[in-house]
Amino acid sequence: MTVTIVGSQLGDEGKGALVDLWGGNADIVVRYQGGDNAGHTVVEGGEEYKLSLVPSGAIRGKVGVLGNGCVVNPRTLFDELDTLRDRGLDPDVRVARRAHVIMPYHRVLDGIEEEAKSDDDLEAGTTGRGIGPTYEDKVGRRGIRVGDLLDPDVLRDRLEYVVPQKRAVVEDVFGMEAGEEFDIDALHEEFADIGRRLDAEDMTVNAGDFLGTELDDGANLLFEGAQGTSIDIDHGIYPYVTSSNPTAGGASTGTGVGPTVVGQGEVVGIVKAYLSRVGTGPLPTELDGEDEDLADYIREKGGEFGTVTGRPRRIGWLDVPMLRHAARASGFTGIAVNHLDVLAGLDEVKVGDAYDLNGERLETMPATTERWAECEPILKEFEPWPEVDWAAVADEGYDALPDAARTYLDYLSDEVGAPIYAVGVGPDRAETIELVDPFERDA
Ligand code: GDP
Ligand code: IMO
Ligand code: MG
Repeated sequence: MTVTIVGSQLGDEGKGALVDLWGGNADIVVRYQGGDNAGHTVVEGGEEYKLSLVPSGAIRGKVGVLGNGCVVNPRTLFDELDTLRDRGLDPDVRVARRAHVIMPYHRVLDGIEEEAKSDDDLEAGTTGRGIGPTYEDKVGRRGIRVGDLLDPDVLRDRLEYVVPQKRAVVEDVFGMEAGEEFDIDALHEEFADIGRRLDAEDMTVNAGDFLGTELDDGANLLFEGAQGTSIDIDHGIYPYVTSSNPTAGGASTGTGVGPTVVGQGEVVGIVKAYLSRVGTGPLPTELDGEDEDLADYIREKGGEFGTVTGRPRRIGWLDVPMLRHAARASGFTGIAVNHLDVLAGLDEVKVGDAYDLNGERLETMPATTERWAECEPILKEFEPWPEVDWAAVADEGYDALPDAARTYLDYLSDEVGAPIYAVGVGPDRAETIELVDPFERDA
């Protein structure tokens, strides 16, 4: 069977922690979109791992697959694999031959375009990893795929077509100088070499075939979504979004496993008990202005600084219309709610229960970001819960949570229309209360 893990908000909901928890029952952990813009944290017995590209199942020694929907920077991949090996792990990662390669010029172009857009405040605040430009080339049918690296002649043909175009964009459109990232011979040498390494280490696969065969043999697949629903290219707050589909449909198109198979499995939305945002754009429930101190407190307590870029994350109250939208877009069968411990001990706990848009009450997100920016949150107040010994609560289970925290969780579950599968009360694997293991719900 399959279990798909999806970010319900703006990324960084703690997906890595749940992939690690439920990865215990998985045979293979599969990324289906995104690239090294992701930063997923796993904490096991106090030991912290931050993963950008290697699927989070690596900490438990599971086979990892980067599906065809991913964009792969081979430099980052090899660096991350080396770092994990230095820490005593033995990661086994396979890369889809249909996945697209992030080339050095994509990163340069990411930076140039963000800079150009910043004059009009239209920059997305990207991670600078070249994600958008790589997906652009994929859709523009001028991308370089992992399979192309294995054939030096094909690689040369692809580079000779695309690199002069990229060079022209930099020089003629932006009036800048194109550096070594745009040198066909140097690129060919480096990336043909990467192809030889991928081949020698037997790292490439036909992802759909590989996963389909494993499923036929009874394997459990865990699909690890990166980013989150509100930064999905289709369902998010365009243009302040990433360039892929973190929503559950991406698990099918991004791996070659059919939607009926993904749909027969479980789809779990990961929810942070408040909002955090690393990028730009509106945020109706943002804690700013006179709430700045509260935001600072939550940011420090929750360690809300970007895993990839180190940027301080913006903080807001939970946005419930955003969650209703996420639950529908992915068809959540369950949710996991993280960071309940971070909200403990506050004087007030609020959520945006609905929006007021020019006097009209909205239960879900409007389709344009400009309308979303005009939404005033209709806040609902909850009784705050006290600081407690979270390790003890995690040991004892759900019933040991403070009453007020359970009221908050019940409300969330009702509004989203999905049961609670897990509750995070701290970053460590041992600090997640599991109510349901989705792999044990196979019909
Ligand atoms: P991801 O991108 O969704 O995997 O999330 P990140 O790893 O970027 O950010 C989540 C951060 O919160 C990490 O530092 C996690 O270790 C931490 N974390 C996850 N769950 C909890 C939780 O329930 N409580 C607290 N305090 N931290 C958590
Ligand atoms: P994980 O998997 C939070 C945001 C960026 C920016 C927008 C586009 O750790 O949850 P990109 O580099 O993807 O072109 O940037 O998306 N973003 C994330 N925000 N968590 C992430 O990943 C993100 N990946 C991208 O900040 O606003
Ligand atoms: Mg993250």
